[in-house]
Amino acid sequence: MEHKTGFCLETIPGNCGAVLFGATGDLSARKILPAFLNLHRMKLLPKKFYLAACGRSDFNSETFRASIKEKLHRACPGVSGEELAAFLARISYFRADYSSPLFFSGLSAELDRLDAENGVYKKRFFYLATPPVSFLPIARHLKESGLLLEPGDRDGWSRILIEKPYGFSLTSAMELDKELCRSASEAQIYRIDHYLMKETIQNILALRSVNNIFECTWRRGFIDNVQFTIYEELGVEGRAGYFSSMGTGRDMLSHIFQMVAIIGMELPSSFKDAEFKQEKERFFSAVRKFTASDIVKNTVRGQYAANDRPAVPLKGYRQEPGVEPDSVTETFFAFKFFIDNDRWRDVPFYVRVGKRMAAKQTKIVIQYKEGDGGLFGFAGLDYSNTLHMNIQPEESLILSLNTKHPGPKLCFTKRNIKLNYRQHTEEYDVPGDYERLLLDVMAGDRTLFVSSGDMNFMWEFITPILELWKERPELAPLILYPARTAGPKEAGLLIKRDARKWL
Ligand SMILES: NC(=O)c1ccc[n+]([C@@H]2O[C@H](COP(=O)([O-])OP(=O)(O)OC[C@H]3O[C@@H](n4cnc5c(N)ncnc54)[C@H](OP(=O)(O)O)[C@@H]3O)[C@@H](O)[C@H]2O)c1
Repeated sequence: MEHKTGFCLETIPGNCGAVLFGATGDLSARKILPAFLNLHRMKLLPKKFYLAACGRSDFNSETFRASIKEKLHRACPGVSGEELAAFLARISYFRADYSSPLFFSGLSAELDRLDAENGVYKKRFFYLATPPVSFLPIARHLKESGLLLEPGDRDGWSRILIEKPYGFSLTSAMELDKELCRSASEAQIYRIDHYLMKETIQNILALRSVNNIFECTWRRGFIDNVQFTIYEELGVEGRAGYFSSMGTGRDMLSHIFQMVAIIGMELPSSFKDAEFKQEKERFFSAVRKFTASDIVKNTVRGQYAANDRPAVPLKGYRQEPGVEPDSVTETFFAFKFFIDNDRWRDVPFYVRVGKRMAAKQTKIVIQYKEGDGGLFGFAGLDYSNTLHMNIQPEESLILSLNTKHPGPKLCFTKRNIKLNYRQHTEEYDVPGDYERLLLDVMAGDRTLFVSSGDMNFMWEFITPILELWKERPELAPLILYPARTAGPKEAGLLIKRDARKWL
């Protein structure tokens, strides 16, 4: 019999009510409601719990439940009829008018009723899953209708969970922050970046902390460069309206820099919210900002074009429904940057992010410096060790080693040690990223949410790039690449120029 030993800490959410604005939307159907259902199936929802779904569409509780039943079946294929029925019974629907104080006062009375029925008593979180235009009106009305309790209120707690995008520029993100803080305090705001909730990302922190061989060598002197790849096979998929105002730079900004921080930050003295965020912000303050010539030299922007080669030809971005035929929105972004601190000085960090790429893949690769070969220096081995951290769809760690080939001859070969992150059945049955963020907000754990300081750093970093692309496009031209390929060749040149290659 196998014994599990050692440290094990579990997030246990307290009894509460969840209020979901935008409950009729795409994200709710594909991610949020299935995540609630999965938690219900795993018995990880609090015993005393209700879900108040809000939307402007004309449903009542019964018709709303009927409308999501099939979608939930599709999103959670293994769910039994009984599990689904028990979960749906915990949902009530309220028809919303986000501009009306009457709606919010009515909602307040309904939530008091649900509190009393479920024995929850003013412990509620409000999930803003509407388009960003209504984030502020909802927050304001929540405050004015008395639905947001002050932090430290003995009667209960109120938390706001807010989807991306958090602003469209540095100015709009700061305005959103300022306005939101009139309604809620920073300690009540949970800004989502679901990448931080991924098991594979959290495993990087664990890998660094509890494996001395990595933490000792996680620095300049040992590491030659670090590479980040976030590739999607899909294009805009009906979200052209949203994407055309964002582009890949804005859309992926938070995912990119949260991943970069997990690799680059100093490990905090404890895994407590304040210390974790403080180290992350300290790290961001060491990221070297781009000058205009850095932008020209160290960024590449691209857009997918039609590709007639496959049996079924693929549309370009400009041919997608809802996209302007002369759109210059980037669907690909690559850049190189440096961190000015003792750990990372002179180690280049390379990032490439794109839509409509050959394959879906998110990974981080650490390339170690080449050694001199020691005893076998005369053999002129020209390969270095690499550590591949595959985030999705594959979830694995691969460490490449140079080994002696078996047999009497002296020759070397590169071999991999591979750890599949989910090998055993119980490892498949753990909460996913949306489940994790729901658990954390219910438990009041803000560690894995994005701070106001993180947001400011990210927008400060990207704003000059976006401005130069707009104002001096000839200095950093938009490069077209055929859909479902490796992206612009200029992204290859960005790294090749440094006598390196993408791994
Ligand atoms: N979809 C994704 O993959 C994804 C990924 C990451 C983040 N997000 C973010 O998550 C949020 C929701 O995304 P989504 O794709 O679900 O959005 P959506 O489908 O466009 O909108 C969600 C719901 O909000 C309501 N709504 C639409 N326009 C509104 C407006 N002007 N004011 C108030 N409510 C409005 C609609 O429901 P009613 O008409 O019934 O009220 C709609 O069903 C957005 O902020 C988005 O940026 C989405």
